[in-house]
Amino acid sequence: MNPLTKKFTLADLRGARSARRKVAMLTCYDFTTARIMQSAGVPMLLVGDSAANVILGHETTLPVPLSFMIELTAAVRRGAPLSLVIGDMPFGSYQGSVGRAIENVCDMVKLSGCDCVKLEVGATHARLIRRLADAGIAVMAHLGLRPQSVGLLGGYRFQGRTAAEATAIVDGAATLIDAGAAAILLEAVPPELSAALVAKIDAPVIGCGAGPACDGAVVVIHDLMGLSPKPPRFVPVLGGPGKSLAECCSTFVDRVADGTYPATEHDYVMPVDEKSRFLSEK
Ligand code: KIV
Repeated sequence: MNPLTKKFTLADLRGARSARRKVAMLTCYDFTTARIMQSAGVPMLLVGDSAANVILGHETTLPVPLSFMIELTAAVRRGAPLSLVIGDMPFGSYQGSVGRAIENVCDMVKLSGCDCVKLEVGATHARLIRRLADAGIAVMAHLGLRPQSVGLLGGYRFQGRTAAEATAIVDGAATLIDAGAAAILLEAVPPELSAALVAKIDAPVIGCGAGPACDGAVVVIHDLMGLSPKPPRFVPVLGGPGKSLAECCSTFVDRVADGTYPATEHDYVMPVDEKSRFLSEK
């Protein structure tokens, strides 16, 4: 186990990408777990709106309020002063006017002390991302499967199944990086899509079920620990009898770093014809 001994920053994440060192991120929702994760050497903690599911027991991430997300993020910040803490902006907190979105993001940053905020976005949010970047805020743009859009998507299906869909996600992410996003989080997409994005942009890409080309990987801690009844197929379930939280976190950090996670068995598979169309159009 290698505890963090100095603050992990966005500059460190960029440096890791340049040096081709893969970086682990785990979700975290409370002070005590954050303290253990920092001691286990987890460099990045995402206070995800998955808190709606695993903490509050909701079916979707939609009901969680901003004030609740700010409280959780502040608790994680106190527990892990050295980890890069990412605060997740919940549904409804940034979908209205740009002005209101900026106020809400500023509240998250000021009241929680997070280092970065995550928003589920697409190319149409480029103006908002530009304004946030102009305000000096580090934004992680979440593309691919966007759980806050479950109503529109009609379920939690992997994204980028067709060449056209995959190209739109890659181009959308590139547009958001051009607009000033600091990093991308890609959820539930085939590995060819993330490989194309990693090659196209000059910014860190964190994968959540997105294949081995990403610069880092994130999973929900409850899934990793084996506490969820039906974890997504890409999660390495490391928990079990006699396995401590610290051990599981540290093993995850090591597996991401040595490239044994994610493996082929964790990939989402594009239909063969769509895959060859996507690869030939790149
Ligand atoms: O809210 C969350 O935990 C997330 C991860 C699954 C990426 O967005």
